[in-house]
Amino acid sequence: MAARLLTLLMMLLSLGQGTVDAYVEEMNLGGCLFLVNRDYPIAADYVPPDLVKVRVSAVNSDVSMRAEAAQALADLFAAAREEGGYQLVAVSGYRSYGQQASIHERKVKSAGKKAALRLSAPPGCSEHQLGLAMDLGCKETTALTERFGQMPEGRWVAENCHRFGFIIRYKAEWEEITGYAYEPWHIRYVGVEHARRIHELDIPYEYYVAQLREAQFAQALGGNEK
Ligand code: DAL
Ligand code: ZN
Repeated sequence: MAARLLTLLMMLLSLGQGTVDAYVEEMNLGGCLFLVNRDYPIAADYVPPDLVKVRVSAVNSDVSMRAEAAQALADLFAAAREEGGYQLVAVSGYRSYGQQASIHERKVKSAGKKAALRLSAPPGCSEHQLGLAMDLGCKETTALTERFGQMPEGRWVAENCHRFGFIIRYKAEWEEITGYAYEPWHIRYVGVEHARRIHELDIPYEYYVAQLREAQFAQALGGNEK
C-alpha cells in the first residue's frame, strides 16, 4: 500500500514537472517514451547518455542519435532499400539546446515569431534534443518539405516506420494538438511495441502518453489488490 501511495504521489508531482530528468525519475513510462513539447520542455543541459553517429547515408558525418534509435534507423533504411529500392538520407538527428536555439532564432527572423512556432520548436522543446528524432530526406531531395509525404519514399516511411519503432510525429490533422505543421520527414523513436500501437490507433503522441498515464493511475489506484 505504501508503495502504491508513493507511486500516486510521484505521478501527481510529475504533472507539473518541467524537465526530462524529472520526467524520467517520476514517471518511468518506459525506456524511450519521453514526451517533449512546449508544455513539457527538457532541461537546457540535458544531453542523451548514449549518442552515436548514425551508420546510414547522411547529409554529414555528425548526424547522431541515441544508440537504440540509431540501430533501428539502420534497420529502417535497409528495409526501405530492400523492399522498395528507396535510398533514404538522414538529415538531422540529435540537436543540442544551443543548436535548437540558433535554428529557432533563424526561423523567427525569416518567418516571424508566430509562423516560426508552427515550424520549429523553441530551445528545450524539441524532440531532437532527446536524440530520438530524425529528419529524413531521400536520394532525390534532402529538402524538408511537405512534398516528401507524397513521394514514394515518404509514403513507404509513413506505412512502415512503426515496424522499426518510429512514429510520424506531426501529421497535418494533428496540428491543433501537437502545435506543429505537417512534417512527413520527422520520425520519432518510441520502440517497436509502442510504435505499432500508435500506428494502429492513429492518434497524436500526446494522446497516447495521456492514455498510458491514465492506465498507470488506474493501476496504482486499484490494481493488483488481492
Ligand atoms: N520541427 C520540429 C517541431 C522541431 O523543431 O523539433
Ligand atoms: Zn525534426
